[in-house]
Amino acid sequence: MSAGEILQAQRARWAGLSARWDTWGPTILDQLRPVGAAIIEGLDIADDQRHLEVAAGTGEPGLSVAKLAPRGSVMLTDLAPEMLEVATRRAREQGLGNVEARVCSADDLPFDDATFDSVSVRFGYMFFPDPARATAEFARVLRPGGRLCSAVWVEPENNPWTTILTRAIATEVALAPPDPDGPNMFRCAAAGYVSALYRDAGLRDVAEWDVGLELVTRSPEQYWEMMSGHLSLAADALQQVDEPARERIRTRVIATASTFEKDGRVRVPGVARCIVGTRA
Ligand SMILES: C[S@@+](CC[C@H](N)C(=O)[O-])C[C@H]1O[C@@H](n2cnc3c(N)ncnc32)[C@H](O)[C@@H]1O
Repeated sequence: MSAGEILQAQRARWAGLSARWDTWGPTILDQLRPVGAAIIEGLDIADDQRHLEVAAGTGEPGLSVAKLAPRGSVMLTDLAPEMLEVATRRAREQGLGNVEARVCSADDLPFDDATFDSVSVRFGYMFFPDPARATAEFARVLRPGGRLCSAVWVEPENNPWTTILTRAIATEVALAPPDPDGPNMFRCAAAGYVSALYRDAGLRDVAEWDVGLELVTRSPEQYWEMMSGHLSLAADALQQVDEPARERIRTRVIATASTFEKDGRVRVPGVARCIVGTRA
């Protein structure tokens, strides 16, 4: 796939998923909160911070940065206008007057050199047509001494919150193995992958660390309802199956999810990796 085709496919995919990300907002926010907190800690936000959030989706952790920087500003960017519409609505609902949004691709940022004190990218890297080119863009728009912090998923084995669903789907559909160099959720999972991109873009003091999290739902049925709609990995595959196969997948997913029941909730774990670096 060419870069243009990847961008077109990603824009369409996330436009299609945006309503589900809005509906399941509170559950997703809770699940990803530890990662947002780790990113914010890695960036060391000042109250006048000028912050850029790339692949901002529905707005976090950028909106939390905006709260910590009342004299500063946050620019939310994303390829999909539909995702940013949810983010800007949330900014309004939270009374945040220091947030702007702009539709653009990570590898072609419409900002001058050294515009921002910090850049964050939570779960965006794996979808970019050219992660090295995007990293060079992040370094370009950072001021000297400014920090970049991103988060990606580690390997599927440590993320049962996705594999419960994908393994159940694989019992009904022959899933093609993902192109290791094309957009997919686990493309950046190898330790050191993103750190190498940072170093190649001239960033210093590069460090990475893992962050545990949990997807918490009220019941195994709610786990299925949520995951079958919002997970990018599953969206295409579930469209390929007929109704009886979908029902068999659902039954299997609910049975596996129920093994994670604890204290009246279903708590399925996962692990993300955060990577921080400083512009020289
Ligand atoms: C998994 S969502 C993450 C959203 C948000 N950062 C979060 O953590 O909740 C991935 C986001 O990446 C965006 N995206 C995909 N390709 C992109 C690109 N080339 N440039 C900018 N954003 C992109 C999608 O539109 C989507 O909103």
